[in-house]
Amino acid sequence: MSHAPDPDDPLAGVDLLRSVAPGSDPALDALVAEARATGDAFAAAALLRGAGFAPERAAAALSQAELRATGTAKLGERAAGMLLTRAGLEQATRWQVAELHGRVLAAAGIEQVTDVGCGLGADTWALTRHVPAVTALEADTETAAAAAHNLAGTGAVVEHREVDASWQPPAAPEAARCALWFDPARRTGVADARGRARRVSGPTGLRPSLELVTTLAGRVGLTGCKVGPGWRHGDVPAGAHAQWVSHDGDLVEAVLWMGRALASPGGAPDPLRPVAGAHSATRLDHDGTVLAHTDSTALPPSPAGMPGHRVLTSEDELGTHLWEPDPALAQAGLVGVVAGGAAEARAAELGTGVGWMTADLPGDPAWVRTHRVVEVMAPRPKVLSAWARRREVGELVLRKHGSSLDPAVVRQRIRTRGDQRRVLLLTRIGDRQVAVEIEAPAEP
Ligand SMILES: C[S@@+](CC[C@H](N)C(=O)[O-])C[C@H]1O[C@@H](n2cnc3c(N)ncnc32)[C@H](O)[C@@H]1O
Repeated sequence: MSHAPDPDDPLAGVDLLRSVAPGSDPALDALVAEARATGDAFAAAALLRGAGFAPERAAAALSQAELRATGTAKLGERAAGMLLTRAGLEQATRWQVAELHGRVLAAAGIEQVTDVGCGLGADTWALTRHVPAVTALEADTETAAAAAHNLAGTGAVVEHREVDASWQPPAAPEAARCALWFDPARRTGVADARGRARRVSGPTGLRPSLELVTTLAGRVGLTGCKVGPGWRHGDVPAGAHAQWVSHDGDLVEAVLWMGRALASPGGAPDPLRPVAGAHSATRLDHDGTVLAHTDSTALPPSPAGMPGHRVLTSEDELGTHLWEPDPALAQAGLVGVVAGGAAEARAAELGTGVGWMTADLPGDPAWVRTHRVVEVMAPRPKVLSAWARRREVGELVLRKHGSSLDPAVVRQRIRTRGDQRRVLLLTRIGDRQVAVEIEAPAEP
């Protein structure tokens, strides 16, 4: 529908948002494109107001255009046709990662899913590509209106509704084949230094609450709940499956999977189907392709309480290489999968909880980046200064893993007067603090 420009336009809230949806007023869309091409925010606003659009509508249209331009990185080319809110965009799932959620539900044979708290619908959109019937519920009025616009034509049913414990999820075709998807808001309302709401990382402060999630999870076959990547293993509900995910090298999330549709150990024909009581790591490339996936059932057997792979003590020395694991593998506590599977490399973790490993061979590129060990030193100022002189260090790249040292303090104490770029890793062997010069291995 086309809105005639009206300087006294009283639109507000949802009506205002809908009035600036891409495609709802082609004249406005064309003018916004022209206004943005000026590259000057004041001139752009003046152009729209000069054409007769009310200031609120002109501002809303320009802000939408700006959000869509920013949103492309997270939402893909689809962002160009979407209605966005700033908070919704900050909280939206990257499209490549949302795709994985749909694939896991499909691997578990799910035929109907309800996205409870769908936000702008980034996850929902991906779910519609993998699950035949999708419903999206959203408590916030404007966000629900945006989701309805964004999901038009996907087949998803979108409803404005706040879900509580009295809500009954769909049970057709049968409850066991129905699923719930949650991506609870994790904002505190307290701003960080850049004015964005801080995120919570643990079980408290989620909206919907973890308690509501687990209550409703008992009514369907499978429930997935996205949480922060720093979620602690001890906070995974009993019997649930925790999946840590990296995308393009970034650790982006953990997902708690719960319900009767989880596979029993050894009983999952599709590797993406979550196994009850286990935890997994999934590595996605830029486009969302699954580069690697493994779970705790692949860990070598170990005595109870032991890490399931060799861990160096303070008396040990490093091998010829260091392995930097994918962050999802490390966060999932699954480095033992690659360490234990490479006996000939004599791989071992540098210290309990360090994550990085040492070995005498390059590691599996599906899970680790390999660095060559050039020199191992005590991280004392005199030793490091002598090293910097000898190695003609000009550009010093400092990395830290498992070390108690502050890289900023270490940097202050090293003079760099040469012209070479060198990489120094601050870490520990067992409990012994060390500085290790590392470099990329020579191409084979
Ligand atoms: C993190 S956002 C979801 C983002 C979404 N997955 C995406 O990728 O675009 C969480 C949403 O849940 C909504 N919400 C919170 N509690 C809810 C409830 N009890 N019922 C329905 N929606 C709820 C919030 O309004 C918010 O929009």
